[in-house]
Amino acid sequence: MKTALITGGAQRIGAQIAQTLHDNGFNIIIHYRHSKQAAEALAQALNAQRSDSAEIIQAELSSLKDIQALSQSIDQLDVLVNNASVFYPTPVEEADQDTWHNIMDTNVMAPFFLSQSLTNTLRKTSGCIINIIDIHGERPLKNHAIYNISKAGIAMMTKTLAKELAPEIRVCGVSPGSILWPENEASLTDEQKNKMLKKIALGKQGSATDIANTVLFLANSPYITGQIISVDGGRTLNQ
Ligand SMILES: NC(=O)c1ccc[n+]([C@@H]2O[C@H](COP(=O)([O-])OP(=O)(O)OC[C@H]3O[C@@H](n4cnc5c(N)ncnc54)[C@H](OP(=O)(O)O)[C@@H]3O)[C@@H](O)[C@H]2O)c1
Repeated sequence: MKTALITGGAQRIGAQIAQTLHDNGFNIIIHYRHSKQAAEALAQALNAQRSDSAEIIQAELSSLKDIQALSQSIDQLDVLVNNASVFYPTPVEEADQDTWHNIMDTNVMAPFFLSQSLTNTLRKTSGCIINIIDIHGERPLKNHAIYNISKAGIAMMTKTLAKELAPEIRVCGVSPGSILWPENEASLTDEQKNKMLKKIALGKQGSATDIANTVLFLANSPYITGQIISVDGGRTLNQ
C-alpha cells in the first residue's frame, strides 16, 4: 500500500488532496498545525472507509525542529505533497522582516527542508514530491510581493530538486489559479471577486477536486519530473 503525506491536509485544498489520494488507494498522513479537530474528523472518516488508512501529525512548519521530528516519525512514504502555505497582502512599503520570515519560512523553507529530511525515505520507494505552487509565482499578484516571491521560490525548488534527486525521486508541481477564496485577513470584497472571475477564460473558479485530481495524475506518472502544471481555467491566457 502506498502512503502520502499532505502538509496542511486538514482542510480546504489539502483535505481534498487527502480524500482523493485515499479514494485511489493511498494511505494518508494528514499533517496539521492548528486544525486538530478538522484533522481528526478527516482521519476518522478515512479510517471508516478503510481501517488503519489514515493518521494525523502535528507540526509547526516554520520550525526546523518540528520538520525534523515530523520526518523522523515517518518510516515509509511514496508521495510528499507540500501544500501548507500562508497568503496575505504585503504592500512593499509596509513589509518588514517578521512578515518576510513568516511567509518565506512556511512557503519555501519548510518544503525545502521537509523534502531534504525525507529524501532517504522517498528514495527507498522511488517516491515523488508534489509542490502546490500558484500561478502568481510566475505572474505577480499586486500587493502580495512576499507571497509572489515565495511561490517563485518553490517553483524553482521544484525544478532544481527534480534535477538533484533524480533518478530515484520525481519532483513536480501544481499551480492553482483561483480555487477557494482566501479567508481572514486576505478576504476579498464581492467587487474584487467579480473582477478576478472576469479574467478567467473558463469564467469560474476551479474546485479543490481539480487540484487533487492533478496531484493524483502526477503521483501516477512515473516518466514526468520537473514539470509544473497550471490548473487555472485559462487565467494565465489573459493579462
Ligand atoms: N485557495 C486558492 O484558491 C489557491 C490559489 C492558488 C494557490 N493555492 C495554493 O494551494 C495550497 C492550498 O491552498 P489553501 O487555500 O487550501 O491553503 P490555506 O487554507 O491557506 O492553508 C493550508 C494550511 O496550511 C497550514 N499552515 C499554514 N502555515 C503553517 C505553518 N507555519 N506550519 C504548518 N502548517 C501551516 C494551515 O494548517 P492549520 O489549519 O492546521 O493551521 C492551513 O490549514 C497552498 O499552497 C496555496 O498557496 C491556493
